[in-house]
Amino acid sequence: MLRIWGKQPLHGQVKISGAKNSALVVMAGTLLCSDDCLLRNVPSLVDVARMGDILSALGVKIQRQGDTLAIDASHIGQSEAPYELVSQLRASFFVIGPLLARLGSARVPLPGGCAIGARPVDLHVRGLQAMGADVQIEHGTVFASVRGGKQRLQGARIYLDCPSVGATETLMMAATLAEGETILENAAQEPEVVDLANFCRAMGAQIRGAGTNTIVISGVPRLHSTDYSIIPDRIEAGTFLVAGAITHSEISLLSVVPNHLNAVVAKLRAMGADVVADAPDQLRLIPNRQYRATDIKTLPFPGFPTDMQAPFMSLLTLSEGNSVISETVFENRMRHVAELSRMGADITVKSNLAIIRGVPTLSGAPVVATDLRASAALILAGLAADGVTTIQELQHLDRGYDNLEGKLQGLGAKLMRVAGEATAPEPNAVEAAVSAVTSGAPLTGLP
Ligand code: EPU
Repeated sequence: MLRIWGKQPLHGQVKISGAKNSALVVMAGTLLCSDDCLLRNVPSLVDVARMGDILSALGVKIQRQGDTLAIDASHIGQSEAPYELVSQLRASFFVIGPLLARLGSARVPLPGGCAIGARPVDLHVRGLQAMGADVQIEHGTVFASVRGGKQRLQGARIYLDCPSVGATETLMMAATLAEGETILENAAQEPEVVDLANFCRAMGAQIRGAGTNTIVISGVPRLHSTDYSIIPDRIEAGTFLVAGAITHSEISLLSVVPNHLNAVVAKLRAMGADVVADAPDQLRLIPNRQYRATDIKTLPFPGFPTDMQAPFMSLLTLSEGNSVISETVFENRMRHVAELSRMGADITVKSNLAIIRGVPTLSGAPVVATDLRASAALILAGLAADGVTTIQELQHLDRGYDNLEGKLQGLGAKLMRVAGEATAPEPNAVEAAVSAVTSGAPLTGLP
């Protein structure tokens, strides 16, 4: 459980870690390579460890030193990903493309739905079929093999019904080793897709157009070893920008790509905050005393990211006026609303729309994190709220934020992990704990 003592100002600098959603897919992408690869700037996350377990189960050798992973996929032992591991991490479905491209067959259990929606994989499957794969789904597992007993997939022209990040990545990886040219139309343009393309190119793949809606891949027979650094996490960066805004604190973010944050920065400016670039990889949040309401619609990149919807909602709850958030990417990504309401937020949800009426203050309360980005939203709300907020179900947070509470502590926030139930501690214990956290003295009187 995480306990947060709200209303503490933040100050200073924070270094943003490597992007979770790049690291996960690039790790799967190492399966394409019959040499070893070095991945740098890999964030320290439970999801990254789980992807490592899946690769290990396939026979890959992985060593971690600091933020660097040495991955040797020269001897893949098998083409079947174990269900116990796949069920814990949706992104593990990514292994299907590289396994099929490299070994000619793959068996990967369907990842199933998750807390934010059904999340089907039909676009991945249809694209692989268009590239010459026989795909059968039986007993919850996808069996895919190259049709006609051939070794290599065939290039194809594939139109994606929606610009799915995962399907674009699966098909791009599969196409790197296919025979001939693959054209992906209506492809996702997210920075993580571009990062994967750059990683594959560093291994010798021929890919053009990543970052636009048409990606062209000319297959090559094999890929070679590389040393590659993962891009910074734009969602972690966006979360810290909101942390500065919601606590009315000027903070600086190091190691960011400002262009990846344009939509989030535009909305912060529309609300009355400012964001300035002090260096090409450095942003500073300049807060305001009061923020204006604004409307948000989540969209594929370069639109406003769905992964920032929940964190941004926390800021909107405290702005002046009414805001409407329209979530268009996932069908069930509003579960944080009930928890924010427990803290005094005034939000009405109708299907995928949230109508937020700004309130002057939030009040600390025991709340439960329902998914990864919801946990960030509740932490942000707790930083701004009066009194103490306790957040349960931190396993969601640990999946996708690299030491968020340590980084917030470094900026002066008062929060700590504690064992036990989410009952509110005695007021005098809170004061003692706040001053102990401030002074570094041992904590007493807390459960
Ligand atoms: N979709 C389909 N069929 C498919 C694939 C997707 O209908 O075959 C639908 C999905 O159900 C969803 C929409 O298309 O409604 C968009 O899904 P997309 O495939 O783009 O998302 P994803 O690849 O499953 C990645 C990130 C998510 C992020 C989304 C959107 C990874 C590991 N995950 O998911 O990250 O929200 O793109 O940007 O890259 C997170 O980090 O918290 C997270 C959920």
